[in-house]
Amino acid sequence: MAVAIHWATALLMVALLASGFPAANTIDPGAKAAILRVHAVLGLGVLALTLARLGWWFIDAKPAIMAGTRPFVSRAAKTVHALLYVVILGMAASGIGMLLLSGAGALLFGGASGTLPDFRAYPPRVPHGIGTRVLVALIILHTGAALYHQFVRRDGPTGRMSFS
Ligand code: HEM
Repeated sequence: MAVAIHWATALLMVALLASGFPAANTIDPGAKAAILRVHAVLGLGVLALTLARLGWWFIDAKPAIMAGTRPFVSRAAKTVHALLYVVILGMAASGIGMLLLSGAGALLFGGASGTLPDFRAYPPRVPHGIGTRVLVALIILHTGAALYHQFVRRDGPTGRMSFS
């Protein structure tokens, strides 16, 4: 279950980054609304998966850090994992906050008519933008560490993260 949630989250995160930047930079209102509908639904999907992952810890213990990992590396890994959760939850909260405060939720999903607001006028846009950059940095660290273990240390995180 945890492995399935991890890979589903990873796919959704790629889709969220790939839709978030065009959503912020598209000028055409129709295209922007279409992208944002997909983006918001995927964002809510990631929120649901993250809450499910946190809940899953009560049912199944969190896997231990790989044997032989040096203490400071283990601390760094735990910090990056914890920050990933915090930032993902913060991104979802600030995304929902933008739609609620601006009224765009009703425009995108409630059939209301009108023009999309400038989201930069709403406070949650700031953490959403900063969170994006922090998230990209954390994903690079997380993926880099996994690739290092897989191809340099050869102690096989893909074994832990596969379905077999
Ligand atoms: C983990 C979840 C999410 C990620 C990774 C994500 C990612 C992004 C990214 C990369 C941007 C562009 C930021 C920039 O250029 O500074 C963005 C903008 C935006 N996102 Fe998200 N997002 C997430 C969740 C959500 C959710 C749940 C909603 C709404 C329910 C949402 C609504 C928006 C809106 C309204 C914008 C602003 C578009 C604009 O500035 O015109 N996001 N997001």
